[in-house]
Amino acid sequence: MADRYLSFTATAPGRFLTRRLGLPQPAALSRFSPERPSLTGGLAHLTAGKTIVGDLAAVLSRTGLPLAAADPAADPAAVVLDATGVRDVDSLAEVHAALHPVVRSVAASGRVVVLGAPLDPEDHHQAAVQQALEGFVRSLGKEIGRGRTVNLVRLGGDAAAAESTLRFLLSPKSAYVSGQVIAVTSEGPERSERSDGSEGSDDWSRPLAGRTALVTGAARGIGEAVAETLARDGAHVVVLDVPQAEEDARRVAARLGGTALALDITAADAGERIAAELPDGLDVLVHNAGITRDRRLVNMPAERWSSVLDVNLASVLRTTDALLAKGALRPGGRIVATASIAGLAGNAGQTNYGASKAGVAGLVRALAPRALAGHGVTVNAVAPGFIETKMTAAVPLFIREAGRRMNSLAQGGLPVDVAETTAWLAQPASGAVNGQVVRVCGQSLLGA
Ligand SMILES: NC(=O)c1ccc[n+]([C@@H]2O[C@H](COP(=O)([O-])OP(=O)(O)OC[C@H]3O[C@@H](n4cnc5c(N)ncnc54)[C@H](O)[C@@H]3O)[C@@H](O)[C@H]2O)c1
Repeated sequence: MADRYLSFTATAPGRFLTRRLGLPQPAALSRFSPERPSLTGGLAHLTAGKTIVGDLAAVLSRTGLPLAAADPAADPAAVVLDATGVRDVDSLAEVHAALHPVVRSVAASGRVVVLGAPLDPEDHHQAAVQQALEGFVRSLGKEIGRGRTVNLVRLGGDAAAAESTLRFLLSPKSAYVSGQVIAVTSEGPERSERSDGSEGSDDWSRPLAGRTALVTGAARGIGEAVAETLARDGAHVVVLDVPQAEEDARRVAARLGGTALALDITAADAGERIAAELPDGLDVLVHNAGITRDRRLVNMPAERWSSVLDVNLASVLRTTDALLAKGALRPGGRIVATASIAGLAGNAGQTNYGASKAGVAGLVRALAPRALAGHGVTVNAVAPGFIETKMTAAVPLFIREAGRRMNSLAQGGLPVDVAETTAWLAQPASGAVNGQVVRVCGQSLLGA
């Protein structure tokens, strides 16, 4: 279902009229394409407080964005503010001093990335001002406009561990990711280790070359976009969907040079069947299959509750456990599960769905450290907001319009936005990102 309002506001009369009426002004977002793989413009590297990361300049120079002067006339496409050394309210003022002069001139669809440090439990002044950065970033994200995004990365170690994350956030691939706080740990060697022991980050344009990825619910919608994006990044993709969708799954797999697997993920032996299908194991497992069966709790029969919990949560738990127990996920493997902002913020009519998706976030946070320690596998989640799919096209007009506009970018996301975020988490070089739930929601007003 096309977003006609977005097309209307892109015309001169549409812009004039909607401005006069004080209506939202969604900007056309610049997304990744092979012709336009990076942001156009320079990168301003600013610092607040005394930095604690030494190698940041080198990592930023590898993004390929030319260094721009920290001066408003430079119109940077991206600003990176290193606030890792902010420890007290005085040095927090340097955040204001650094960004105040330049923020107006950041190009449309540009990026502001603030780097913070982990909160120090021994120092409540440092913890206070580092936490303050979250409120700062989320507030700036809500006011900056023109398709620009603002995110916070908490660096637990050197900047090199965050290279894949910075490349993602400083690229058109993160067009619909804003207002997020992403922790990057110092977990070192695993981050780029391939199953064959070679480095995985040497080719940033095909980081998944030689890897196998399985995407559940990939015959259509977001899952299809995830499969496409992982294939673009070099992976051999297994397109899993229910037997009723086998024809579509085969079509998608054929287009991507992958394999189709007709399987209902709620089958008790789904994990074993996947492992049997992939005797050499797999590197990336994307739990995308999901259903909604909306009703308010007072009207919800048990069957609606259990079917949603079974597809969205129980099968994710079951297949993850089975595949990890069998060692089917190779070291350096990546699990990406699909949560939802409905699970983080709650949504009327979706007690079943909200419970299942909050459960996914709980699974990710609890399993992540153990899966990394025991199997060398990271576990993260994407939490989509309003994404333009068949699922949301079926939503009644007024609720659909509200869903589209009630976010900082004033528009719905596209399946490719979730896919790009998944692909970043799936990279060999993203081993220092673990246990994160990253919202792909244009900074939806729903929830924190
Ligand atoms: N569309 C949105 O705005 C939105 C927002 C938040 C979260 N999500 C989540 O993103 C994921 C994809 O959503 P979508 O909009 O693309 O949905 P969709 O309905 O278009 O596609 C879901 C796919 O999963 C498959 N599937 C369902 N049950 C299955 C099962 N038991 N075994 C195997 N495959 C199964 C379906 O056949 C379908 O191909 C879901 O987990 C959904 O909850 C979507």
